[in-house]
Amino acid sequence: MCGIVGYIGKRNSQEILIEGLKKLEYRGYDSAGVAVFTSEGLKVKKAKGRLAVLESELDKKPLEGNAGIGHTRWATHGKPSDVNSHPHTDNSQKFSVVHNGIIENYLTLKEELIAKGHVFVSETDTEVIAHLISSLYDGDIVIAVREAVKRMRGAFALGVLTEYEPDRLVAVRLASPLIIGVGEGENFIGSDIPAILEHTRNVYILNDGEMAVLTRDGVELMTIEGNFISREIFHVDWDIMTAEKAGFDHFMLKEIHEQPKAYRDTMGSRISPDGRSVVFNELHMTTDDVKAIRRIHIVACGTAYHAGLVGKAVIEKLARIPVETDVASEYRYRSPIITPDTLVIVVSQSGETADTLAALREAKRCGARVLAITNVVGSSVAREADDVIVTWAGPEIAVASTKAYTSQLIAFYLFALFLAQTLGTVPADEIAATLAALNKLPEQVEDILAAKDAIKAYAEQIAAHEDLFFIGRGLDYAVALEGSLKLKEISYIHSEAYAAGELKHGTLALIEEGVPVIALAIQTDLFEKTVSNIKEVKARGANVLGIGYAGDEELQKSVDRTFAIPKTLDLLAPALSVVPLQLLSYYASLARGNDVDKPRNLAKSVTVE
Ligand code: F6R
Repeated sequence: MCGIVGYIGKRNSQEILIEGLKKLEYRGYDSAGVAVFTSEGLKVKKAKGRLAVLESELDKKPLEGNAGIGHTRWATHGKPSDVNSHPHTDNSQKFSVVHNGIIENYLTLKEELIAKGHVFVSETDTEVIAHLISSLYDGDIVIAVREAVKRMRGAFALGVLTEYEPDRLVAVRLASPLIIGVGEGENFIGSDIPAILEHTRNVYILNDGEMAVLTRDGVELMTIEGNFISREIFHVDWDIMTAEKAGFDHFMLKEIHEQPKAYRDTMGSRISPDGRSVVFNELHMTTDDVKAIRRIHIVACGTAYHAGLVGKAVIEKLARIPVETDVASEYRYRSPIITPDTLVIVVSQSGETADTLAALREAKRCGARVLAITNVVGSSVAREADDVIVTWAGPEIAVASTKAYTSQLIAFYLFALFLAQTLGTVPADEIAATLAALNKLPEQVEDILAAKDAIKAYAEQIAAHEDLFFIGRGLDYAVALEGSLKLKEISYIHSEAYAAGELKHGTLALIEEGVPVIALAIQTDLFEKTVSNIKEVKARGANVLGIGYAGDEELQKSVDRTFAIPKTLDLLAPALSVVPLQLLSYYASLARGNDVDKPRNLAKSVTVE
């Protein structure tokens, strides 16, 4: 879960590396570094802290050269420090490596290398790679890297340079993302496309077990066994502005505001022109395949898991297929019953989350069909699943997920309707009515965004509190879980989400005078029961914000203040009710002076288990 960038060409590499790393900082930001071929040989500069620290050091003493590698780190082995930062070098300082992932057998390798006289300066697994490559080097860096990789176990993406061959940059991918950017007289590597998009739109996406050898004039792709590969260039057609802030103070706020577009794009051509059915041209599922599904497992992490909770409720209601939802890090270890008639749906914004990917592989090993819902075309999850639904939310840069989550909800609504229409579990008119309501959501989100000042004012009030509760029943509870995670993640306010009916089984003891409680009371069939639970917390002194449909007088009478969402079908309400909660966490974080887009201890893409 780190960011890698690399350049070989004719321009000043330091600038290109730093700009690339800025685009990758979301992948980790506890330290950063670069290695550049200078006239005095291979030189490394690295620093603990945000990229800005490294940048100011390089401003004082630039590294001049036309090829280099860079890294932004999220610590796994060894605490954040200058010495643990990448790039790492061997004792001769002739080899330099940047690495994303984990080398599981690094201790064994390290002991072997120490026995041969290598001296280590860091606590990282990455330093072992630099020493290993140097110990295997016999005049050809590609062979040395290949031999080293054969000895390494784990998940990794690498960028490797050696002073002995200043015209070559070697890249390797094994279970950690890596792309190659193809320019004219210059070539690039990156963990993700935005890192190089300013320079080229022509990209090779490396698969697991592949490597690339870059020179100024070309790129050779091969397997790590050494077999050459020919591959078509992937042309990136999205705009670089999409990956920038576009006038908003933070990526998170921008991404919250991009939700209407993300909804429209995710629905796109998946709704038939007459608005009566769902069309999934990209799915390879026949009617018989759908009829053969006996159970569905939804597996994901964090926010994507919360989308899965909504997915479960929606699929069960519309398609009447039993669904279990699991946190990916638990799934494999509970011996789930996965049979060939199980459909496993993995949900992942990045498509690279290690636990989700491992769950996908386990599901496939057991013979299940796997459907991926992901935001990244060409991601590992997308490539390994049998079917893919891309959520067209566009790049999500803020660590806290917003538009990716709501696009996942849209994907679930569409897929549940697709199952229902195939199985005949919902009458055609009801499907058409649900699609009409779905089509209205983008405009309704715009209405919520227009009222954001009310949420801002409330957020500023609660920002001084250290504990807060979210309550709701049914689908409102699933949204409460997401609201609570979002608030914790970026405001650092402790909060908990409870199924409203569960409070009196323990948690009610925590409610005292003035404790903020955010109550979602949207689901019509559960409304009265939720209102009773609201009264229970009010009676103990809680200060309650009620989120309900516009014009709901009963709710207004029961709470201290309300925030209204436009009327929609109860089933679709999560795609609206989560928006004020996203805004709440954004403004609370801002009021507390936090780094909204890069909350402490977290990284955007979690590629370690
Ligand atoms: C929270 C958040 C995380 C991710 C989780 C899974 O705002 O973004 O909880 O949802 O790390 O990431 P993906 O969806 O990339 O698999």
